[in-house]
Amino acid sequence: MALSKRRDAWGSKIGVIMAVAGSAVGLGNFLRFPVQAAKNGGGAFMIPYFVALILVGIPVMWIEWGIGRYGGGFGHSSAPGVFHSLWQKNRFIKYFGVIGIFGPMVIMVYYAYIESWTLAYSFFAITQKYSAIHDQAAMQSFLRGFQGLVKNEYFSSILTAYTFFLITFAVNLIVLKHGIRGGIERFCKFAMPTLLIFGVILAVRVLTLGAPDPVRPSWNVLNGLGYLWNPDFAQLRSAKIWLAATGQIFFTLSVGIGVILTYASYLKKGDDVALSGLTAVTMNETAEVVLGASIIIPAAFVFFGPMMMGDIANSGAFNLGFVTMPLIFNSMPFPELMGFLWFGLLFLAGVTSSVSLSQPAIAFLEDEFDVSRDRAVAIFGGVTFILCHGAIFFLARGVVDELDFWGGTFCLVLFAMVEVILFGWIFGIEKAWEEVHHGADMRIPGIYKFVIKYITPLFLATVLVTWFWQDWLPVIRMENIPEADRTCVMFTRAGLWLLFLTIAMLVKIAWRKRKTGREGV
Ligand code: ALA
Repeated sequence: MALSKRRDAWGSKIGVIMAVAGSAVGLGNFLRFPVQAAKNGGGAFMIPYFVALILVGIPVMWIEWGIGRYGGGFGHSSAPGVFHSLWQKNRFIKYFGVIGIFGPMVIMVYYAYIESWTLAYSFFAITQKYSAIHDQAAMQSFLRGFQGLVKNEYFSSILTAYTFFLITFAVNLIVLKHGIRGGIERFCKFAMPTLLIFGVILAVRVLTLGAPDPVRPSWNVLNGLGYLWNPDFAQLRSAKIWLAATGQIFFTLSVGIGVILTYASYLKKGDDVALSGLTAVTMNETAEVVLGASIIIPAAFVFFGPMMMGDIANSGAFNLGFVTMPLIFNSMPFPELMGFLWFGLLFLAGVTSSVSLSQPAIAFLEDEFDVSRDRAVAIFGGVTFILCHGAIFFLARGVVDELDFWGGTFCLVLFAMVEVILFGWIFGIEKAWEEVHHGADMRIPGIYKFVIKYITPLFLATVLVTWFWQDWLPVIRMENIPEADRTCVMFTRAGLWLLFLTIAMLVKIAWRKRKTGREGV
């Protein structure tokens, strides 16, 4: 146990809830969710989405708060140590915890870059850099020029994007350097209310969009909302929609990543986890299904109609957010303000999430190697900064999709499976139930004991088995990857293995050091 120095801690209950909600509310709520919903048939998506929320999202959130606080009591804030605290007799369990450092780092590598686009676009909005663009092709060209994929009349190189990336990365490191209470908590207490205000203004603006075009009267806000909220039971047999909805629940709640357990490890033993966990879920879902769903989807429906929405979502993950939305704002009054609010909201949501993605690796260095906060942030910053260049310079070569699949989808389900088995079965459901209720401000409905022990692992196992059954071989053989991108994807996979093995090696070294330290005493 590394208890030699004073552990950082949260300053207040509202602070920790804001930080966890900040980790959850991110680009996933406002960009990924509408794209997933549009790609997967709108109303058909929402049924598996809510089923996954109730059967997996909420229970895994409680589990992560519970095991995090438990592991924190042993001086551990990252998954290897937390898992080890839960099953001390097992020598291997800490290696499963490697996923809880590796996964968030992999997400961070592309997330930080996309986050930097939102800062750049909020700057472009107020400086009217794209205000004269009124058609889809030109706005797309603006985005591609900015990303350095083409040279055009808007951008001659990737330099602008790179500059905004440097600023964004620096903002993250500054927040992280100030620690849990002085950095993350303080930033989230300002960013969360601000972004919610921005979101409410945008949602009200979209929901009060004027009379529809007389030529296409059905393209109105009400039908735009109906696109998402009219349930479509016919498509429920599609495994793809269930996988997409479950993946979105994990990503949006930040569960199965390893970050919530890290945040919870800074709680005190008597602090509530049951009500706080549920409050964080409620805040995230309000941001996603109330605000997230009331901005892009109805706006795009009114301006482009139902057929185009699916096409735009399928044409590229960022087109709805970075092409369609600026075009919509350009045909509204006060486009500069609307664009600033939209991209400003995304930036704040992005930073509150990316600092949480960074914290597990930093905590691992601090706890297991007794490294100071400043040094841990510097090491993490240096390594991640280098890794980000793959996402920046090989964006169009399938690198981001590859990182998102392994770090942002596959690892989440796998990691959650390990957590659920560990807590519900190895630690034991009775002890787990008691642990989660220690200091709790609410009682979790008794049915969740059964859900956590049987339903959640069964649900996750079904998702994993279905994935292996349907996709394992094609993914390994890179069947869905264009020929031209395969070398890049292969290098990305090799890099991912290298990163995973390096972290596993560090875990081995840390535990060996601790053992020899104990023997020496
Ligand atoms: N939960 C974070 C998001 O939704 C990662 O963006």
